[in-house]
Amino acid sequence: MDPAAQPKVETPHLAMPKLGLGTFGLRGPECARAVAEAIRLGYRHIDTAEMYDNEGPVGQGVRDSGVPREQVFVTTKVWWTNLADPEAALAASLRRLRFDWVDLFLIHWPNPAVPLAHTLAAMVRLKEQGLARAIGVANFPSALLREAVATGAPIACNQVEYHVMLGQRAILEVARDHRIAVTAYSPLGKGGLVNDPTLAAIARRHGATPAQVALAWLIGQDLVAAIPKTGNPQRMRENLGALALRLTDEDRAAIAALPKDRRVISPAWAPVWDAAA
Ligand SMILES: NC(=O)c1ccc[n+]([C@@H]2O[C@H](COP(=O)([O-])OP(=O)(O)OC[C@H]3O[C@@H](n4cnc5c(N)ncnc54)[C@H](OP(=O)(O)O)[C@@H]3O)[C@@H](O)[C@H]2O)c1
Repeated sequence: MDPAAQPKVETPHLAMPKLGLGTFGLRGPECARAVAEAIRLGYRHIDTAEMYDNEGPVGQGVRDSGVPREQVFVTTKVWWTNLADPEAALAASLRRLRFDWVDLFLIHWPNPAVPLAHTLAAMVRLKEQGLARAIGVANFPSALLREAVATGAPIACNQVEYHVMLGQRAILEVARDHRIAVTAYSPLGKGGLVNDPTLAAIARRHGATPAQVALAWLIGQDLVAAIPKTGNPQRMRENLGALALRLTDEDRAAIAALPKDRRVISPAWAPVWDAAA
């Protein structure tokens, strides 16, 4: 598919390709090679974070790809212990990336010890300065997401764990009310979902793979993007193939019947999550 024609989440605050490359766990030259290869294969959305210790190689990979910076949507995030000073955090991220701006700058996890309004006000300044073209949050449950919106900050995105075995109904409702993008992280359940027999049966009907089914289910939803991680070019191509897969009502009914409470990421600093639904 022509990368410029790839579907995007389009809202008043951003236009973000629906399929991106996750990079957690990729580091050094391997990361730079993977990012450059992904962009050559057609990816136009790359996800990183200060915590991933790979912003340098991510920036290098974008440059090595030969595709102009303006054509690649890059997200980075400020770690939750740095929310008192997101301006310093973004300055350091931009130095490591060797970029003049990021397309999306997110609070990586909420931190109740730092007033949300303080962090968001600083992020609004970064947006006004053009250093972050859009701002948003990650790992915000629905009530906290509403709080963030109520500050008046132009919240463009909430990046959360979301996949065929984890429901996010409450967050999607807030997202629809305010036209906020929802980026699904761990969209393959950290790889575990590719062995699921329901996904395998659907995949067989379409001549597709279980990973493609899991990703097509996400990116087929209004406002939802997905960022599967792989360093393997074969899998990058496979995952990109999800863009061409159209699930049927029967497929969606089979996926709806899967358990929706299988969260795979919940560290000690996680907030109280919405009930699974
Ligand atoms: N905001 C947050 O707090 C947060 C939290 C977690 C993740 N994230 C972001 O979301 C990205 C994705 O999440 P994730 O890395 O946790 O999990 P994921 O994308 O669900 O799964 C990644 C795993 O699946 C494997 N994989 C990828 N494509 C595959 C395919 N087609 N067939 C079989 N296996 C495949 C990868 O292996 P190989 O690499 O060996 O191919 C890797 O082990 C992260 O990299 C990060 O950018 C954000």
